[in-house]
Amino acid sequence: MSVEQHYLAGLDLAGRRVVVVGGGTVAQRRLPRLVRSGASVEVVSPEVTPSVQAMADAGEVTWHRRPYRDGDLADAWYVLCCTSVTEVNAAVAAEAERVRVFCVRADAGIAGSAVTPATGDHDGLLVGVLAQGDHQRSAAVRDGLLDALREGRASAQDRQPAGVALVGGGPGDPELITVRGRRLLARADVVVADRLGPRDLLDELPPNVLVIDAAKIPYGRAASQDAINEALVEHAKAGRFVVRLKGGDPYLFGRGFEELIACAKAGVPVTVVPGVTSAFAVPAVADVPVTHRGVAHEVVVVSGHIVPDDPASLTDWSALARLTGTIVLMMGVEKLARFTDALIAGGRPASTPVAVVQEGTTHAQRVLRSTLDAVAADVEAQGFRPPAVTVIGPVAGMVGELA
Ligand SMILES: C[S@@+](CC[C@H](N)C(=O)[O-])C[C@H]1O[C@@H](n2cnc3c(N)ncnc32)[C@H](O)[C@@H]1O
Repeated sequence: MSVEQHYLAGLDLAGRRVVVVGGGTVAQRRLPRLVRSGASVEVVSPEVTPSVQAMADAGEVTWHRRPYRDGDLADAWYVLCCTSVTEVNAAVAAEAERVRVFCVRADAGIAGSAVTPATGDHDGLLVGVLAQGDHQRSAAVRDGLLDALREGRASAQDRQPAGVALVGGGPGDPELITVRGRRLLARADVVVADRLGPRDLLDELPPNVLVIDAAKIPYGRAASQDAINEALVEHAKAGRFVVRLKGGDPYLFGRGFEELIACAKAGVPVTVVPGVTSAFAVPAVADVPVTHRGVAHEVVVVSGHIVPDDPASLTDWSALARLTGTIVLMMGVEKLARFTDALIAGGRPASTPVAVVQEGTTHAQRVLRSTLDAVAADVEAQGFRPPAVTVIGPVAGMVGELA
């Protein structure tokens, strides 16, 4: 068949028998979307990759552990030849032709009677691109289209979201927001933004979007949470789609659940979009893995909002001091000595490595490496200030391994 004559169609494969011959990485790439379509997928192959095996173990596909044989396509609606052996793929294609089943040949694209388009999803749209057998071109066009849709550069006529979206914006680098977060931000009528998080993204918003600054400066002036809750509810009730853009993840010391409760009480629907938390992302960009095999088997994220001997503290600092793994201290840099003293008093060795990362993932990022007994003085001497994450434990000293 001439490539110009390909006809792009959407197949309803739900409950229909689809045969995939071969169980290597080519089949592995195709299987998830087939499974999602609801097809009854049968893999014929003597061997499969561990991922395909896992899909078979989970009951998502049926695996026939043997070579292909003529007759395997009986009652099939669609066939994919995914082996690395041209003769096998040719034999499958020949049977498919004989029994009139459309057949994709992964090894020889346009030689089959069907081809798989480069596909991608966006908000209920399924985009498919064919480029006359030029896979790189179809994938590049697909990627460009999806980027344009997600960033609002191409109109997708998206269903206008309603209510409030609690979006975790990540630690600051605008590229560390999730795809869903970015997509919803592009649809916002009102954005209620924190001081932390991807502030650069606000620049990209069209001028008609109302941006409300919910800046909460640690230990200083604080926009009251009630006022934030009221703004969310009021705008949403007026029919505007509100994105509450928060730093990191909305539920990690982010008061996100308070906002969810306020909206729920007012009958406002909420979409929660988890985010990349600074507790893990900020150490990562400073070459501090929060866990490492054989080094740290636990990681505790703790708030430094309240100091250890404060009656309002809910944290058992002597228990934390007995741990050997990683402690990630948030909001604690200004009173660091109170925390390090409590840990040393509780038995954590004074020589424990510590890393402090200020404004991680942003152009202003600074990193300080020290030990538990010296870090408070070092932080003061070097003028470290919020926002900063303090990582305590052997992982904080692992950067030396890189040398
Ligand atoms: C109120 S908490 C919010 C945490 C946020 N929900 C999250 O998941 O990252 C604020 C604290 O997060 C930490 N933090 C947030 N962004 C940071 C960044 N870019 N660099 C260092 N620390 C950061 C600091 O400890 C800061 O005091």
